[in-house]
Amino acid sequence: MKTESLDRLRSRIVKIDAMPAIPVILRPLLRCLDQPAELIDMNRIVELVSYDKSIAAQCIRMANSALFSRSTPAETIRSAVLSLGMWRVRDLLFSNSLSQVIPANRWVVDPSIFWRHSLGCALVCRKFAELIDYPDTEKAYLAGLLHDIGVLVNCMVAPDEFRTALLKAAEEKMPLEEAELAIMGFTHSDTGRILGEAWKIPTDLIDVIELHHLIGDPNRGNPLVALVHLSDLLCRMRELGYGYYEARQIDFAHEPGWLYLAMKFPAMKKIDMAHFTFKLDDYAKEVGELVATVFAGRQAA
Ligand SMILES: [Fe+2]
Ligand SMILES: [Fe+2]
Repeated sequence: MKTESLDRLRSRIVKIDAMPAIPVILRPLLRCLDQPAELIDMNRIVELVSYDKSIAAQCIRMANSALFSRSTPAETIRSAVLSLGMWRVRDLLFSNSLSQVIPANRWVVDPSIFWRHSLGCALVCRKFAELIDYPDTEKAYLAGLLHDIGVLVNCMVAPDEFRTALLKAAEEKMPLEEAELAIMGFTHSDTGRILGEAWKIPTDLIDVIELHHLIGDPNRGNPLVALVHLSDLLCRMRELGYGYYEARQIDFAHEPGWLYLAMKFPAMKKIDMAHFTFKLDDYAKEVGELVATVFAGRQAA
């Protein structure tokens, strides 16, 4: 989007006070996670979990669920966090805190579909990053998780138009971003960028949020953009999209994002795409279980 139109959109968002406030734990969580896995402070994660009673209760409930067959029940936040593992706790913290930034009655998309897509994309991004030897696989995960946060802003800024765009996309089996452009004149990538700037999230993640649908456009030399673009497409092809079927053929080997990554990461040549897409069904199952736990917990909390 042109700078001028982006400025107009920004002032519109500010005027109607539609910018969701940054969740209290998001910035410390990002700071805590923005370093190599071996340096991440588990005590700090336990502390962040304990800030929110409903998240703490969910961690304990999940640690004691059938997914984690413990011999003795987890009764403390610490034992629950250790049993779940840092990354699953991180998923719970993110999905809960981001879900709370807009009131429950303002969601235009089904929140469980939104989280299935975001967590699914995060998981695929991490697996993809591992396959191509991308150096920071957890950053790739985070980029996948946050890439569509503009959807949250759309729910606040233009709920009726956004609902119409979602219906149009589903009816015409077209990509959501194309329907958004046709109905609203902007997309969740534009509003996501504005939110990312307001929340002061790292610039490489803002690039991803803004550019993940701009096929063929410069990606600011940031391989994360191409990684998320391709992972997003893969998810949408394998029922981890926005809850409807998209009628389009994608030739991954000729995707600009694929070609860009192939230039940068020689390991791309070794990827067995058929096997990788087949594995997506397993990821979809894993994501489904996680989302079901998050939402079951929320209703019970
Ligand atoms: Fe998107
Ligand atoms: Fe997406």
